[in-house]
Amino acid sequence: MKVGIPKERRPDEARVAGSPDLVKRLSALGVEVLVERGAGDAALIPDDVLAAAGATMLPDAAGVYGDSDVVLKVRRPLTVADGGPDEVAMMKPGAVLIGMLNPFADRDQVDAYAARKLTVFALELMPRISRAQAMDALSSQSNIAGYKAVIDAAAAYKRIFPMMMTAAGSIAPARVLVLGAGVAGLQAIATARRLGAIVSAIDVRSAAKQEVESLGAKFVEVDSGETGDAAGGYAKEMSDDYKRRQAALIHETLKQNDIVVTTALIPGKPAPLLITEDMVKDMKLGSVIVDMATAAGGNCALSERDRVVETHGVTIIGRANLPAAQAADTSTLYARNLSNVLDLLVDEETGELAIDWEDEIVKGMLITRDGEVVHPAFTA
Ligand code: NAI
Repeated sequence: MKVGIPKERRPDEARVAGSPDLVKRLSALGVEVLVERGAGDAALIPDDVLAAAGATMLPDAAGVYGDSDVVLKVRRPLTVADGGPDEVAMMKPGAVLIGMLNPFADRDQVDAYAARKLTVFALELMPRISRAQAMDALSSQSNIAGYKAVIDAAAAYKRIFPMMMTAAGSIAPARVLVLGAGVAGLQAIATARRLGAIVSAIDVRSAAKQEVESLGAKFVEVDSGETGDAAGGYAKEMSDDYKRRQAALIHETLKQNDIVVTTALIPGKPAPLLITEDMVKDMKLGSVIVDMATAAGGNCALSERDRVVETHGVTIIGRANLPAAQAADTSTLYARNLSNVLDLLVDEETGELAIDWEDEIVKGMLITRDGEVVHPAFTA
């Protein structure tokens, strides 16, 4: 069997869907790993390191896509509309594709996978069960993104995070508010605390309060009986009454904070709008908002994808692909996630694919097979 790792061609993507460790693990199973030359450069994984781990380095994408039984990607394949080449058309019919494919936003491409008769696994659909934790790419990437969001906020902030008592006088600690205390939010809380800030957080899921408090942050609670728990540990969209109460609470809380990191997402839907222009107007001069949800439409009305906006005395950072900023670490973690997924899909004796189609994780991630769209989220 051959597993291919092409270069990610998007200008904002520095990650690679592989690592020397992944290559070694696959090679030990008798799998040949084909890597496009330069694929790991931006993630500080040079060709010679991958070759030394056992990879066959190929000069171009066509060679990798055309000869691979399994293709590993970070982001969904390019289409002609993305500025091409059409990476799906380069794949062998019947091949397996695994990656963070964003199938909800790119529904048309799901049909293209089926038309090419690809077996496609979208890692975003990984069930949130304990057996799947080591394969959970959303978690591994969001974790680092949460860290990076706080580092970016600190860099843009014209004051400091920790309390400082000096001979020249004292400086009060920064106050950081995190909206959405999932994987990214919890790491943002931990990072802001390590930098010395006073941190509070808001979330809609019932488990969030205890998780926030266990990191030494304050949980700011909406006065409502409603909770936002949905299937699989995710959040649901809240009622209009809840949204009104939450908006009033966020408005007041923002006035007391200097830094806001927003991470709120609802799977398959636009991100909830949590910060309006009126709220931004009432924030302290010099405040910083990092909107981590801009790829899903944003949590702040004024944020712009991949831009830094200065308005009403507030800096609003909308970088969509934070995990790519720390590509060396995020690629290594992602490759480990992929390695664990492949352990599930490949027979360790023969090194060939041996997929248990009834496995809960396989079923959860599988979107197309044998020319059909099979995932219930896309067949309705
Ligand atoms: P996410 O990225 O989908 O959303 C981020 C956060 O935003 C979530 O905590 C969500 O509750 C919150 N949110 C959504 N709408 C909101 C609103 N209107 N106002 C305020 N907050 C809002 O979620 P993420 O980070 O991927 O995971 C959520 C939870 O899933 C984790 O905290 C964890 O409990 C669970 N999980 C379980 C795993 C496993 O068992 N394998 C792996 C990863 C996460």
